[in-house]
Amino acid sequence: MNDSISPPHTPSVVGTTLEAHILSGQRGAPGATGEFSSILNAITLGVRIIHSRVRAAGLAGMLGYTGDTNVQGEEVQKLDEFANDVLCTTLERCGRCAMVASEELEQAKVMNESGKYIVCFDPLDGSSNIDVNISIGTIFSILRAQSAGGRLLEGALQPGHKIVAAGYAVYGSATTLTLSTGYGVHGFTLDPAVGEFFLSHPNLKCPERGNTYSINEGNHVRWEEPVRKWNAWIKSEDKAKGLPYGHRYVGSLVADAHRTLMKGGIFAYPADKKSPGGKLRLLYEANPMGFLFEQAGGAATNGIDRILDIEPKALHDRTALVLGSKQDVNGYREFMLAK
Ligand code: AHG
Ligand code: MN
Ligand code: MN
Repeated sequence: MNDSISPPHTPSVVGTTLEAHILSGQRGAPGATGEFSSILNAITLGVRIIHSRVRAAGLAGMLGYTGDTNVQGEEVQKLDEFANDVLCTTLERCGRCAMVASEELEQAKVMNESGKYIVCFDPLDGSSNIDVNISIGTIFSILRAQSAGGRLLEGALQPGHKIVAAGYAVYGSATTLTLSTGYGVHGFTLDPAVGEFFLSHPNLKCPERGNTYSINEGNHVRWEEPVRKWNAWIKSEDKAKGLPYGHRYVGSLVADAHRTLMKGGIFAYPADKKSPGGKLRLLYEANPMGFLFEQAGGAATNGIDRILDIEPKALHDRTALVLGSKQDVNGYREFMLAK
């Protein structure tokens, strides 16, 4: 037998687990101490716990409102609070997290002052869809915490280009985790029978251009003129330019973003008369998504400027957000800049 031919590759009967994927990344990272992997594992444990509760929310009396309102002035859904508590607990217990910033916490919460990382998260995204069994999710980003003498010098108010990792879970027909640690974007699917995430979509790429646009058309009357002109254009008939695009809008950022990342196209939540600074939150919705889209070869802006270059002023800053295929996001930008 010609031994120069390697034996045929026999695929393993065990897929690549998320932990194995993270560890392989750690082996490649100079000076990696395992703290980063420990933080990621704490987040994914939290996601798996949220998954199990979401699946049985209707049975566990977890639907509906707690009666409180959060710092956003929104009525807190039981699952919002539960998901927030879960992630705060798993991150606190891992002992490696310096601080968390959550949509559901008015202030950042210091956990372990000697920790190297800060985690910003939206524990439950798409709350308005919880009671009607439409896909919801969890969004997170990980930043480095500079600290001297045990004091946290740099808090969560860092621009998105400082993100070291980001990801989101979608609790949909399957529970998936889409993750980047700076080396491309990889998709994992939870096998509920074993409670493990397995690599299912390695090296996800956002297509250069798509054929769907995603925006809440119900806000049309509130949009500025350039947004209305773009909206009319993308719905116009021009076969040569591949117009009109199809319209898709779920109302959960994780679902609309995931479809756009996988299939291309554009998602836009512009500022409008009702939300002059935009509706979506910079630190734990726009920035993690912006990091992931850029890692997948897509783009993310506030309509004009790169999302990851925006300097946050406050924990719950809001921003206009446009995500998607490079060509589609640039096309939108041309309408915003047109005189
Ligand atoms: P959250 O449930 O975390 O508050 O996020 C809801 C956000 C986002 O998921 C979605 O893209 C957007 O709200 C939908 O807003 P509209 O209902 O105004 O379209
Ligand atoms: Mn959200
Ligand atoms: Mn939320």
